[in-house]
Amino acid sequence: MRHLMSPLDFSVAELDGLLELASDIEKHPQKYAHACGGKKLATCFYEPSTRTRLSFESAMLSLGGSVLGFSSADSSSASKGESVSDTIRVISCYADICAMRHPKEGAPLVASQKSTIPVINAGDGGHQHPTQTLTDLMTIRSLKGQLGDLTIGLCGDLKFGRTVHSLIHALIRYPNIRFVLISPEELRVPSYIREEVLQNNNIPFQEVERLEDAMSQLDILYMTRVQRERFFNEEDYVRMKDFYILDKQKMSLAKEDMLVLHPLPRVNEISVEVDDDPRAAYFRQARYGVYVRMALILTLLEITVSDAPDGKEQSC
Ligand code: NCD
Repeated sequence: MRHLMSPLDFSVAELDGLLELASDIEKHPQKYAHACGGKKLATCFYEPSTRTRLSFESAMLSLGGSVLGFSSADSSSASKGESVSDTIRVISCYADICAMRHPKEGAPLVASQKSTIPVINAGDGGHQHPTQTLTDLMTIRSLKGQLGDLTIGLCGDLKFGRTVHSLIHALIRYPNIRFVLISPEELRVPSYIREEVLQNNNIPFQEVERLEDAMSQLDILYMTRVQRERFFNEEDYVRMKDFYILDKQKMSLAKEDMLVLHPLPRVNEISVEVDDDPRAAYFRQARYGVYVRMALILTLLEITVSDAPDGKEQSC
C-alpha cells in the first residue's frame, strides 16, 4: 500500500505516468466515470480549504465513487482531544482512501503509519503540499509542453508557502531548471531548502527582492499569498501582505509566452486586471487539479481502466 506525503514519493517515471493518465482523463472523462464505483474517499481537513477539498471530492465523484469527511477540526473529535493516529484507525474502517490536511507538519505522515488505507497529504502546516505540486506540474506540462528547460520565478511568501517547498523538490528532478526566488528578506525560502535541495543538487538559482528585476527572464511566474495563519504576530503580516502586487504594468515587462500560476486563494498579490491576460493561467490550473487528483486516486487504489470503449475497470 502506498501513501503520498511528498512529491518525492513518486519517481520521475511514475510522475510522468500519473500526468499522462491525468491528460487521458481530461480527454476521455467518460472512460473513467465508473472506475471507483463502490469506493469511498474520506476528506479529513483540520484546516480551511476550498480547492483542495472540493477538487478531491469532485475527483472521486467523477470516478463514480463517494465521499465523506469533515472540513474543520471543530467538527471532528479532534476538538475532544482525539489523536490523528486514533482518528485514522477509525477512518480506515469507513473509507478506502483518505486525503488529510493538518496545521501540524508531519501529521499526515503520523496518520499514514497507523492507517490501513492510502493516506494523501493534502497540506501539512508550512511543510509540503504534494497534490498542489501535481496540479502545478500538469499545468506547466499541458500549457508549456515540457517540464524541463525553464526559468521559474517563485514570488511571495517563500518561507511559509508549502506549495513552493513541494514544487521546488519536484522540479529539480527535471533537466535545466533555474529558479529566481523573489521575496522580501524575512520571507526567503528556509535555509534547508536553499542548502540541501538547491545548492547540494547544483541547481542554479538567484534571490531577488524586486519582482521587476526578475520579470523579463521568466518562463513561469508562480505567485503566492502571504500565509497570514503562520505568522506569529499580525503586525508583521500587515507589513508584508502587499509587498507584491502583480499588475498590468509589471506584466508588460514579461515574455509574451510567460505563464502566471498561483495555487490560490489570491488576496491582493495579483490585481484582477491581470485575469484577462492570456498568460494568466491560475484558473485553468485549478481545473487541472481535478484531473491529477483523479489520476492519483486511481493510482493509489491500484485501479486500471482498460482502453476498451466501455472503459470497464479492472482491479489489480
Ligand atoms: C494553498 C495551500 O493551502 O497551501 N492553497 C491550495 O491548496 N490551493 C495555498 C495557500 O493557501 O496560499
